[in-house]
Amino acid sequence: MKEKFLEVLRTTKQNVFVLAAESGSQRHAMTVSSVFSASLEPMSMAVSVNQNASLHDILTIDSKFSLNLLASDQIEIAEICSGTEEGQIRFEHSDWEFSEIPYLKSAQSNLFCICRKIVPLYSHSLVIGEVENLSHSGKMNPLIYQDGKYET
Ligand SMILES: Cc1cc2nc3c(=O)[nH]c(=O)nc-3n(C[C@H](O)[C@H](O)[C@H](O)COP(=O)(O)O)c2cc1C
Repeated sequence: MKEKFLEVLRTTKQNVFVLAAESGSQRHAMTVSSVFSASLEPMSMAVSVNQNASLHDILTIDSKFSLNLLASDQIEIAEICSGTEEGQIRFEHSDWEFSEIPYLKSAQSNLFCICRKIVPLYSHSLVIGEVENLSHSGKMNPLIYQDGKYET
């Protein structure tokens, strides 16, 4: 049944985000698509993060993170942030800004969140962040992932 489950998931079209956070000298970014808007009052986002991901343990209650919605021409950054090289090296590509929270300036939109809840969920943790600030380019051309590949 798992194979069928994966088959069903592969038919869905997913938006692609890069989740980024830092804590002390550690800075991490990872590609995520298990992301949804969880509530409007307050504005919150949920993201499912694998407990083995290097970013997982720097997310703590009240820590801050950015969710950067990628545009259709940002396949390269999605690949870098899901590739084998991790940590600081992922920030050496593309146009990152390092203010209070690292964020990708060229993303279609940036959502700046403060972590309010972390719910362990089998292999993953469901991370709920309240949206404290955002920037939106006004464009409506997000990167889409379906059937194991990016739509071009
Ligand atoms: C399109 C796409 C979507 C992904 N979505 C998620 C996700 O929602 N949650 C997750 O934990 N990993 C997701 N991944 C896998 C992580 O990006 C990948 O395992 C990454 O390397 C983890 O970071 P690390 O190498 O620093 O541990 C996704 C990968 C791709 C290519």
